[in-house]
Amino acid sequence: TAGATLTAASSAAAAPRAAERSTDASGFPPDFLWGCATAAYQIEGAAKEDGRGLTNWDVFSHTPGKVANNATGDVASDSYHRYGEDIALMKDLGVRAYRMSLAWSRIFPEGKGQPNQKGVDHYNRVIDALLAAGITPYVTMFHWDLPQALPGGWQNRDTPKAFADYAGFMAGKLSDRVHHFMTVNEVRSFSDLGHKSGTHAPGLMLPPRELNQVRHHAILAHGLGVGAIRAAARPGTQVGVADNATFFVPVVETPEHIAATLRATRQENAMFLTAIMEGRYMDSYLTAQGAAAPVVQPGDMAAIGSPLDFLAINVYTPFYVMADDTPSGYSVLPRTLNSPRMPSPWLYVSPEVGYWSVRSVSDLWKPKTIFVAENGCSADDMVTPNGQVLDPDRVMYLRNCLTHFRRATAEGYPLKGYFLWSLLDNFEWADGYTNRFGIHYVDFETQKRTPKLSAHWYRELIRRNALV
Ligand code: NOJ
Repeated sequence: TAGATLTAASSAAAAPRAAERSTDASGFPPDFLWGCATAAYQIEGAAKEDGRGLTNWDVFSHTPGKVANNATGDVASDSYHRYGEDIALMKDLGVRAYRMSLAWSRIFPEGKGQPNQKGVDHYNRVIDALLAAGITPYVTMFHWDLPQALPGGWQNRDTPKAFADYAGFMAGKLSDRVHHFMTVNEVRSFSDLGHKSGTHAPGLMLPPRELNQVRHHAILAHGLGVGAIRAAARPGTQVGVADNATFFVPVVETPEHIAATLRATRQENAMFLTAIMEGRYMDSYLTAQGAAAPVVQPGDMAAIGSPLDFLAINVYTPFYVMADDTPSGYSVLPRTLNSPRMPSPWLYVSPEVGYWSVRSVSDLWKPKTIFVAENGCSADDMVTPNGQVLDPDRVMYLRNCLTHFRRATAEGYPLKGYFLWSLLDNFEWADGYTNRFGIHYVDFETQKRTPKLSAHWYRELIRRNALV
């Protein structure tokens, strides 16, 4: 029939294009590293076990009114005891890498001084179990749980030094088996949420000069940490940072808006990632801060700008930016009323950030290797009567982001791996347990883990090494 002829002819014509599509339009590079991410305070629980010291988040979460439903990380996802089960989940997914953090206060309960061997033993066990499962650990030294005993916390210049001592100590213990370390996680978050808005521990709202000093100490901790890890670790150990720079997406992909995107990325991260990547504060930042600029001691900026082996970025939500003729050369668009969002109030959906985050840091600072240390979302999981957990919106969110990360790999940007946030539901900071980011559902009454639809989807994506 005419219809059959038409079908045959068009499918014959389409065949080469379809073949191209399956590899070129959906595939990731053959050695692309698929992983999952978590952080100690959010999953471990066991807050008082084996000599762990008190942290700022223990104090904050136990202060009524600070965390949704006054939840704490005392038990969290109980991964301190259930890490074997969690590793089995990862093995089942087929991930080759796991980004985890160490709880500083398990190692140095007072933040410094005498180490606690039981803390070291715990992480030795976790790392050995990961390696036995064929999963490569990527270890973050500080993911926000600061030992409470350190006087003045991040306001005190001694804290970055204490951090470097701890980071060097642990690098020395682990670098026979761990080859990738990240110093600190998201300097902007623990500086500003903790000391500007006060919505995270320690809950302060500092004036600009003190705030800038905290920010300086945060990036100084990173810089001193790099040096300490390098000094203590075996040669060849890779050191980087995990940062959630504020990212921008050009309103239209034209040369002028793309240039505005790069200007905005550099300028808006002047006191964080830009300083880390360039080893100096931008003049425009120092001028704008005036008397509120941080006190910088000799040697600080050289440490802060220590060359890195990789840059890891946490990628969630960007702003749209356009070129204009103001002195900065760009303007950032306000959020519009109907911008789609996931349940976390800050999590606007703009999947193009996948491409533009990687491209911006790459064009600006040319890191040799880029990892996505976090990407993921909260979503309203549907638990069916027969116990399945369906989260098609999370799958939609992740697929869209990965479509744009894939574009970055296809264009040759050095994105080498992706850590999905998060392996399992956990303590989502000030949101407590009200926002779930996991691809495994955790019933916090029983601690039972259930793979969500998104876990099945991620497994299939990893199996194909291609978008699905
Ligand atoms: C970034 C943080 O590193 C992580 O701890 C947090 O849970 C996720 N964002 C989601 O908010």
